[in-house]
Amino acid sequence: MPTSTTTITTAAKPAKPAKAAQATKATTATANSEFGNLRPAVGRSLPQEYYVSSEWFQRDVKMYGATQWLLVDHVSKIPSAGDWFTYEFGSNSIIVVRNKEGEINAFYNVCRHRGSILCAEGSAGKTKTLTCAYHSWSYDLDGNLRPPRSMPEDFDKKANGLVRCHIRVYDGLIFINLAKGNPPDFDVLIGDLKPFLDLHELQNAKVAYSKKWIIDANWKLNVENFLECYHCRAAHPTYTAVHDAMKLLSFGAGAGSSDKAVTNSFEARMKEWEAETNAKGIFTGIVVDGVDSDFFRAAARIPIKDGYKSETRDGTPGSTLMGKFREFDGGQTGVSFNATATIIANNDFALMFRYTPIDTLKTELVVSWIVHKDAVEGQDYDVEKISAVWAITLDEDKTITQNNQKGIQSTAYQPGVYSTQEQRIADFTQWYINRLERFESETAADNTILIAKH
Ligand code: FES
Ligand SMILES: [Fe+2]
Repeated sequence: MPTSTTTITTAAKPAKPAKAAQATKATTATANSEFGNLRPAVGRSLPQEYYVSSEWFQRDVKMYGATQWLLVDHVSKIPSAGDWFTYEFGSNSIIVVRNKEGEINAFYNVCRHRGSILCAEGSAGKTKTLTCAYHSWSYDLDGNLRPPRSMPEDFDKKANGLVRCHIRVYDGLIFINLAKGNPPDFDVLIGDLKPFLDLHELQNAKVAYSKKWIIDANWKLNVENFLECYHCRAAHPTYTAVHDAMKLLSFGAGAGSSDKAVTNSFEARMKEWEAETNAKGIFTGIVVDGVDSDFFRAAARIPIKDGYKSETRDGTPGSTLMGKFREFDGGQTGVSFNATATIIANNDFALMFRYTPIDTLKTELVVSWIVHKDAVEGQDYDVEKISAVWAITLDEDKTITQNNQKGIQSTAYQPGVYSTQEQRIADFTQWYINRLERFESETAADNTILIAKH
């Protein structure tokens, strides 16, 4: 079993905000971007337009879907051949389906006849064929078109299969990407996160329970709220009762959530816990991507609170041990694949967070609680017990995030200064601008080549 002391990756280390801004200016002077005087100030929340304008929203989803691997669900949601569900992102609906060989395919939910969707958006089911209700064109589970009626003699059936969407499955987690060309490098995404995920063996697990929230707020406000715990003391009595107070100041929203001086205040306890955990043969570490990174990943193993084995209301175990754990180490693993996809794994159960932008002022959050595949409800785990802390916390988050959106829509709103416990948001807003600018500049370059060719 691998062991390690704390490791901070330096490949894309967090930059000091002032430096990040300079670097951005220098490298993007020729980019085809239209930020103009709306370029956000470093260390402040974004200008109003970023949270309320549908034009910005369209730019966001285009960039995000093409540049990020979107975590859509756990494989246990489609356990056997023919099981499928759809996932919607921006203007795209994707069908995720298990074929006869047990592999998972992803197709754009668009009939190759005249473009109707095949499966109702937001639905799931089991089928032998994917059939369009409009004129009954039918596709097998690998997207191949079956012979349609009354087509011209020279019709090429093979050239009219469903359009594949980029898909990867890792440790039981299904990811898709909506890039038109090559997808981002999945191995790079997973590389530094592997030792964290390997501990929990999510491929040997199942979803015990899922819950959905629809939040009337821009997706970036939801992300920002998730990336800081400055609000926790006022908003989350249940959550703060379960977590060490000093830990919440330093690592309240995971790796990189506070600035270095604040984080250092927890260093002695962190080192002590890491030594105890490493002595048990269990891995510990920290990964924090910076403002110029491709994915804005973060991962860390952090103790919950003295005497707490798991993230339940009283700290007692919520289910049977998972993965490589043979005893409780009191730690919790956070793994963010990007700003909208996070796994929080205790020793005995894990949570999968999936934020999806729905509209400028609407975001969907789906959380799935994951337990060992052999765990039996009512015997090994109780849904109420494992879900209580976060179900309560996310209800509270919905309220405060919607209130944040309402206030931002006022003519009096001005970007505000982030606290030292909101370092990860300061980084996120800079990352977002950098990524958007880079993506739009690359897309503009692609278009130039296409125009030149024709
Ligand atoms: S649009 Fe699907 S069969 Fe015609
Ligand atoms: Fe919160």
